[in-house]
Amino acid sequence: MKPKSGKYITFLPDNIDVLVSQKDQSVLEMAVREGLALDHTCGGFGTCGTCRIFVREGLEKLPPRNEIEQEIADDRGFQDYERLACQTEPIEGLVVEIPSKGSRKKD
Ligand code: FES
Repeated sequence: MKPKSGKYITFLPDNIDVLVSQKDQSVLEMAVREGLALDHTCGGFGTCGTCRIFVREGLEKLPPRNEIEQEIADDRGFQDYERLACQTEPIEGLVVEIPSKGSRKKD
């Protein structure tokens, strides 16, 4: 059942609502805490690109990419909705999709 109140981020494709904790620094931290299958090869330093997510709702709430994320986004030709979970602020109401490995772009 979907929560009716509180600060949540929804992770697709499994439609999992995760409560935003004040300690969470990034969407990646939330996913790891919940045990969701989201790769993060570089450990969240913004250098590997394996934590790429698709922001399906709430993109307008997010601040622009930081310099670290922008470099990877430029290099790999990310669309606006493609963000690095480790560099994405956990803002209430986001709906993000963890892409299947088969949909990952080749490096
Ligand atoms: S975990 Fe490596 S770029 Fe996010």
